[in-house]
Amino acid sequence: MTESQLNGRSRSRVVHGPPALGIDVGGTGVKAAVVDTNSGELLSNRIRLKTPVPATPQAVAQTTREIVDRLAAEGPLPADLPVGCGLPGVVKEGRVLTVANIDQGWLAVSAEEVLGDALGRRVIAINDADAAGIAEMRLGAGRDRPGTVILLTIGTGIGSAVFRDGVLLPNTEFGHLEMDGYAAETEWSGVARDRRGLKWKEWAAGFNGYLARVESYLWPDLLILSGGVSKSLVKFEAYLETRAPVVPAHFLNTAGIVGAALWATGVGSLTGQQVRDVLSPS
Ligand code: BGC
Repeated sequence: MTESQLNGRSRSRVVHGPPALGIDVGGTGVKAAVVDTNSGELLSNRIRLKTPVPATPQAVAQTTREIVDRLAAEGPLPADLPVGCGLPGVVKEGRVLTVANIDQGWLAVSAEEVLGDALGRRVIAINDADAAGIAEMRLGAGRDRPGTVILLTIGTGIGSAVFRDGVLLPNTEFGHLEMDGYAAETEWSGVARDRRGLKWKEWAAGFNGYLARVESYLWPDLLILSGGVSKSLVKFEAYLETRAPVVPAHFLNTAGIVGAALWATGVGSLTGQQVRDVLSPS
């Protein structure tokens, strides 16, 4: 897609890299934008619609279709535009294998098929936290950071992405660590904070317990926070107690969109070396 094809979408004069469409299906909202895959810059508006209730595959596919139609109304989306989609569950070979914050109907369903059919395009699916992690490792807060880096996305649930020297260990699901008899995310996600009416200080005190657990298992060198809560880091960072430094995601709540777009251009099921190449192209 050239700048003229983008119809004035680009905020800068030069389009630096190949564009791709990133979609982020969350428990609360479905969001998408066209992304410059070299810079992570959004080349279109970010369109967000509420996640349908119930969030069945067909309903989510319909919402996604509506969003993509709106983007297409802003300017043409070429037929060969790579499309990546992050989903809130374990995703293997395009199939959703766990369903905590999305309708049970997704279990074992190929997101790539359902969304691909709805959009009439090839769609590459990935876990939403892994997508956000890829965006941050390649272009954001984790760029050029060796060692163990963990991104936690805190919104409706808690998602995790674990990298060792830039290589992703996919589908880690550390939001489901058991704490006090519950999956950690049911007590310490952003939505759980709202539901329980916790002040930032109270929430951070409990979240510290969760971070301590994650740190005791994995000893990260850097923790990156993304998702709805990351834009409020200034309100609670003073209360956090961790061994590793904690930083907000560079792309904040759009990391999932950016990473899904990057994943689509990296394409397919990658080996560790290939993932490394996607994260740190020479
Ligand atoms: C899901 C994860 C997801 C996280 C954030 C959890 O409930 O199990 O796969 O990454 O929510 O959306």
